[in-house]
Amino acid sequence: MDNRLFFPATERNRDSIGEVLSRTLLTRGYILEIGSGSGEHGVIFQKCFPEITWQSSDPELTHRKSISSWIDHEELNFKMPQPLDIDVEKIPWKIPSELLLSIQGIISINMIHIASWNCTKSLFKESGKLLKIGQFLMLYGPFKFGNMHISQSNELFDSSLKIQNKSWGVRDLGEVSEEATNHGFIEEDLIRMPANNFSVIYRKVSF
Ligand SMILES: C[S@@+](CC[C@H](N)C(=O)[O-])C[C@H]1O[C@@H](n2cnc3c(N)ncnc32)[C@H](O)[C@@H]1O
Repeated sequence: MDNRLFFPATERNRDSIGEVLSRTLLTRGYILEIGSGSGEHGVIFQKCFPEITWQSSDPELTHRKSISSWIDHEELNFKMPQPLDIDVEKIPWKIPSELLLSIQGIISINMIHIASWNCTKSLFKESGKLLKIGQFLMLYGPFKFGNMHISQSNELFDSSLKIQNKSWGVRDLGEVSEEATNHGFIEEDLIRMPANNFSVIYRKVSF
């Protein structure tokens, strides 16, 4: 059965995110994606970066079914593992041993503002345990700076998120990076992306 979902934002941001990844990824090992959604990013990046293994994950069953359908549709079954059921808050994450041994980085695209603040905390806590020194955690999405929005459209977006769920909202980069520091990461790079978004690369520097 074809359970593929189509998330319009994916088509708009995949090239610019791919560009950042091309500068960030090493050549081998696993990338764990948290909150993969439809799975469109996963199959695109798996094809762009054939040396790595893209491990998608999502807590929503419909999303995991979509990811599996995208893997089938793109004939990547020989290369890409099936998505994992990871809810960042349910710790410790259940991680297969092969992934534990070969992980080189973690990425989460447009997740932390569509989840509670506790999810951001859990993301750094578990990533800090999984990743070794020198490995990275990359976030993509909108951010506030000094608790201020960078555009009116981000402010409107933030309000619309909070109407949907009081615990959601565009996060302040300073607060996110403080959480990162608490778990042994430094904010290594901040890259301005189209449509008032940012990519942030955190590097694991200590335990
Ligand atoms: C806006 S979608 C982004 C999906 C995809 N990364 C993309 O950019 O198209 C947010 C995703 O975060 C996932 N998510 C929400 N809460 C989560 C949690 N507690 N742990 C992991 N993922 C979560 C949702 O299921 C959803 O797939």
